[in-house]
Amino acid sequence: MTEIDVAKMTSSSRYAVLTSLVVPRPIAFVTTINEDGVVNAAPFSYFNLMGNDPPVVAIGIGKDESRKYGLKDTGYNIQKTREFVINMVNEDIIEKVNLTAIDFPPEVDESEIAGLTKLPSAKVKPPRIKESASNFECRHLSTIEIGNVRVVIGEIIYLHLDEQYVTFQDGDHHILTELILPVGRMHGKDFYTRSAASLFRIARQSYNEWKNNLGKKI
Ligand SMILES: Cc1cc2nc3c(=O)[nH]c(=O)nc-3n(C[C@H](O)[C@H](O)[C@H](O)COP(=O)(O)O)c2cc1C
Repeated sequence: MTEIDVAKMTSSSRYAVLTSLVVPRPIAFVTTINEDGVVNAAPFSYFNLMGNDPPVVAIGIGKDESRKYGLKDTGYNIQKTREFVINMVNEDIIEKVNLTAIDFPPEVDESEIAGLTKLPSAKVKPPRIKESASNFECRHLSTIEIGNVRVVIGEIIYLHLDEQYVTFQDGDHHILTELILPVGRMHGKDFYTRSAASLFRIARQSYNEWKNNLGKKI
């Protein structure tokens, strides 16, 4: 085994190693708005759904001392306005989303540079992105600052779904995830993965099922 004392690694080598191991990561394409009404859009792969009751998301936003207030625009805007929209990322829009990660100044609306369409949200001020298969309107709950990282925690309060990816049966919504063609982040820089082609299923057993199946080949 190669063993690494993480505390002794440089920040960049920690980034390279850890982001190559924790894969694939979903990508939140986050839209926010600043106090002057300027829209900001940027991707974040330190991101996941943390629970569904209530529906909680977390995003890890790096600090950036070169920026005004030492924060990336997304972090600054969420701190000020306490609202954001997560637009999920699929193969159709990944190149445009990638473009929005350029360090544009705060007064630049990256969604316009990338040619993405903004639509009004239902319950929050930041707009949602039309080309995304789904948009989660979020309200800020809490921010945990740990060193150079701001873990922003939010609650999903409203959901938009492109109707071609959803059916309604037996009183419930069924999402056609494999048709969405979601994209995941791989490694640290420049790498992505398609997820749809490699979908497979493993049933989760109850404890009793597992005991009854003991001795049977998995
Ligand atoms: C796919 C992808 C994922 C990224 N994930 C993160 C992340 O999780 N945290 C982070 O701080 N920056 C991340 N970045 C970099 C930011 O998107 C980049 O710093 C961007 O300029 C921030 O924009 P803002 O200042 O408008 O908020 C990512 C970039 C890409 C392309």
